Amino acid sequence: MGKPLISFAQIKEQDPYFLDIDEIPDWQAQFGNTNPLKLEIGFGMGNFLIEMAAKEPGSNFIGIDFYHKGIRKIITRIKNLQLENIRIVYGDIRSKISILCQDGELETAYINFPDPWPKKRHIKRRLIKPEFINQLAQKLDLEGNVYLATDSESYAYEMLDYFNSETLFQNLDNNKGFIKERIDLPKSKYEKNFINAGEKVFYLEYLRLAAMTSIA
Ligand SMILES: C[S@@+](CC[C@H](N)C(=O)[O-])C[C@H]1O[C@@H](n2cnc3c(N)ncnc32)[C@H](O)[C@@H]1O
Repeated sequence: MGKPLISFAQIKEQDPYFLDIDEIPDWQAQFGNTNPLKLEIGFGMGNFLIEMAAKEPGSNFIGIDFYHKGIRKIITRIKNLQLENIRIVYGDIRSKISILCQDGELETAYINFPDPWPKKRHIKRRLIKPEFINQLAQKLDLEGNVYLATDSESYAYEMLDYFNSETLFQNLDNNKGFIKERIDLPKSKYEKNFINAGEKVFYLEYLRLAAMTSIA
């Protein structure tokens, strides 16, 4: 027999690492320091977030997802590893982004393998859209970074097109295209699976720029 599942209500009541937010948290008070704030959107089973937090104790990490199994799993791992620099936010980034942090508070955002919704009639459900990219830009500090990865070629080109069109972001590839590989970041679960299956992974990296001011 498997272990009995802890209910979500229990996690919420018992766990200081788990937040179900309805207003912007005071992240400096949450973490007890002013370290840079980094966000992973859709952490899944949490491997990437856990490795990042262990590797960078001088940064604070927020993960957001609504995948219950993944949330339970990562909370257990955070406790077992005694990682003080991760907080898990429950929910859909599209409805939470406005209250996730102050504008300009994020140093980095990671979006690893967002659901590709491959069927034509479902493509409209994709997360990466111009409005969302602009909202994310508002939350990032100047010179903050966004890292994206996907195995879906059609989604990869859509992300490239939308991000390259947002004037608040600069593509960090010399040819404003895809980055060939990511060497400094851990591999997420999906990333390992796709690489092991010999599939191509598309990586993108962007820098948050200052808004252009028009000279009268
Ligand atoms: C394909 S999985 C990738 C998981 C992980 N990033 C990886 O690379 O192994 C996509 C994850 O994003 C989450 N997700 C999808 N849409 C989301 C949204 N709007 N807000 C927050 N999480 C989302 C899903 O629940 C799922 O855990």
